[in-house]
Amino acid sequence: MSNEPKHRQSPPHKNNWDIDDEPICNHSHNPDFGRILSTRLQRRQVMRGGLATAVAVMFSRPHVASFLADSASAATGNPKLGFNPIPVSEADTIVVPEGYTARTLIPWGEPITGNYPAYKVENTGAEQGMQVGSHHDGMHFFPIEGRLPYEGSSNDGLLVVNHEYIEPRYMHKAAVGSALNAGTVPMKPDGKREADQVLKEINGHGVTITRIRQQANGTWAVARDARNRRVTAGTPMELSGPVRGSDLVKTKYSPDGTRTRGTINNCAHGVTPWNTYLTCEENWARYFRNGDSAELPREHSRYGVSTDDTSRYAWELADNGADEYIRFDVSSKAASATQDYRNEPNTFGWVVEIDPFSPNSTPVKRTALGRFAHEGVVFHTPVEGQPVVCYSGDDARFEYIYKYVSAQPYRQASASGSLLDNGTLYVAKFNEDGSGEWLALKFGENGLTPANGFRDQGDVLVNTRTAADFVGATKMDRPEWGAIDPSTGQVYFTLTNNTRREDAQVDAANPRAKNAWGHIIRWQEAGNKAATAFNWDLFVLAGPEDDSRKLSGQSLNDESIFCCPDGLWFDADSRLWIQTDISESVMNQGDFKPFGNNQMLAADPRSGQIRRFLTGPIGQEITGVVTTPDQRTMFINVQHPGATVTEDEFAAGQINSRWPDKNPAMYPRSATVVITKNDGGMIGT
Ligand code: FEO
Ligand code: CA
Ligand code: CA
Ligand code: CA
Repeated sequence: MSNEPKHRQSPPHKNNWDIDDEPICNHSHNPDFGRILSTRLQRRQVMRGGLATAVAVMFSRPHVASFLADSASAATGNPKLGFNPIPVSEADTIVVPEGYTARTLIPWGEPITGNYPAYKVENTGAEQGMQVGSHHDGMHFFPIEGRLPYEGSSNDGLLVVNHEYIEPRYMHKAAVGSALNAGTVPMKPDGKREADQVLKEINGHGVTITRIRQQANGTWAVARDARNRRVTAGTPMELSGPVRGSDLVKTKYSPDGTRTRGTINNCAHGVTPWNTYLTCEENWARYFRNGDSAELPREHSRYGVSTDDTSRYAWELADNGADEYIRFDVSSKAASATQDYRNEPNTFGWVVEIDPFSPNSTPVKRTALGRFAHEGVVFHTPVEGQPVVCYSGDDARFEYIYKYVSAQPYRQASASGSLLDNGTLYVAKFNEDGSGEWLALKFGENGLTPANGFRDQGDVLVNTRTAADFVGATKMDRPEWGAIDPSTGQVYFTLTNNTRREDAQVDAANPRAKNAWGHIIRWQEAGNKAATAFNWDLFVLAGPEDDSRKLSGQSLNDESIFCCPDGLWFDADSRLWIQTDISESVMNQGDFKPFGNNQMLAADPRSGQIRRFLTGPIGQEITGVVTTPDQRTMFINVQHPGATVTEDEFAAGQINSRWPDKNPAMYPRSATVVITKNDGGMIGT
């Protein structure tokens, strides 16, 4: 666990195979297929070993073969992997194929607004609010005119970047020379936190919106623009959709339950058909601590709100006692919910809409999309007169994949965020035979009734996980990014890993027990995109040569071994880009050593061919990918370089990554990387 404050103890179960960041919160008893399907169990008794089991699942189901045949004939794209694959790497640098160039853009601390304060470790909290945040993640390039992927400027746009979390020891002058582990915060002798450090950490979170332009020499740079903006963990936001005004979101700050402050742990993102940005709140739960002696409400317990002495970064202990900081202690302190912050966590776990072209607009939390550890959101291409359809994964062990279908039809001329306020949220059930069902999380349906403890649609949505448990969704191996093939409409999702899945919990969609390597699942809706049935199969089982499988039936090899798939994106030519997030707790150690540093690969969705395109520096993950409309500039993010430095190494100044500045006096920094082809061609061709 890399992200825990110093004064929190690591959980006793921590070991080399425990590579998730968050505790398991799904203790529901909705069935695992391994338990209910006797055919499955019988097969497993015959074939011991994860791969044999998984391969049987991948290739033995006749209707899946027909799904694949359909998809091949439906495909019109012709993706080519025209680059020479690169080897794995443990070097502290970005490596791209021959003929490509990678350059750094907007590292953490780069000034983008206000009085443009230059980056230095002494920067104040207020200065951080005028600079790029830390831990870059999901990202989109909005052409300054026109829209991706069909049109628009390819040398001038607004780059919008999520900032997932922060690294306090690389952030504060006060941390230099102390023995601090990754994620640990410097405390004052009196047990409080310096308020300006807390502000700096809050402002290091959120989203950066900045105009960038390509210069005459081909490089990109920040342009000063009135739309440059920082959204942070303190920015005022509106709640919209069925939860707006619910008793469950009434707080001292917003007694009518319509507003909250900030967005937290913004992992992946989405882009709406009306050209706005969605930022997704993932591992927000432990930013709050609840010290009540009574049993926690399900709105807290089912999400893992901390019961420790302090929250993740102990923001509630800021020494100025300001309301915006003490709200992270969500214990009951007053006579009613409108006088304290017991409901503050219920205003997190949402998808937040930001219009990057309206710098004064208030971000809106779209509650109809559900409350969980949202990784990202991915939309089908909208069709005039039909509902808007999108998907989102809940990235925790044994959590679910969700689909949203708007109640109102899409009309290009008038489409807006209100389409995300009224619709049906579904959760996926993957059947053993390769079929699947979308189960509606609608108050009054599927048993989501007062008799079963659900009061109204707002209650169902605040307790999305509990509702999904109740209807019997399939527990997945940590759903991360989704991507939709523009030539077939097939939906792909990464399932990054789940080393806690036991033999008896194996199912067809999550076919390996102790799944350390992860896999990619895909499906096609049965009929139109709003259908409640689908067909699915597995695209790839990641892993080393002796425990992996591509569509062709062959294993991954030197040019393609990878594990822990996370970021996923289709370019306009149906090239599938796959990014990896091996946990820093196991990176380059033991069985994970063959994979080297985290990397990015490209895949052909029809042939299943995969080739390694990029390797990153030490201690980081690669996450976030988009190109300009002409596909001649690609942006990716490097997050948390140097995260593997131990507390002793930190105290001794032995920092294993100096990326990207290559300056021994500077700490490593998350940053965006700009990739171009030296001949000016399209990326990946
Ligand atoms: Fe923030 Fe699921 O990765
Ligand atoms: Ca991720
Ligand atoms: Ca991560
Ligand atoms: Ca991840």
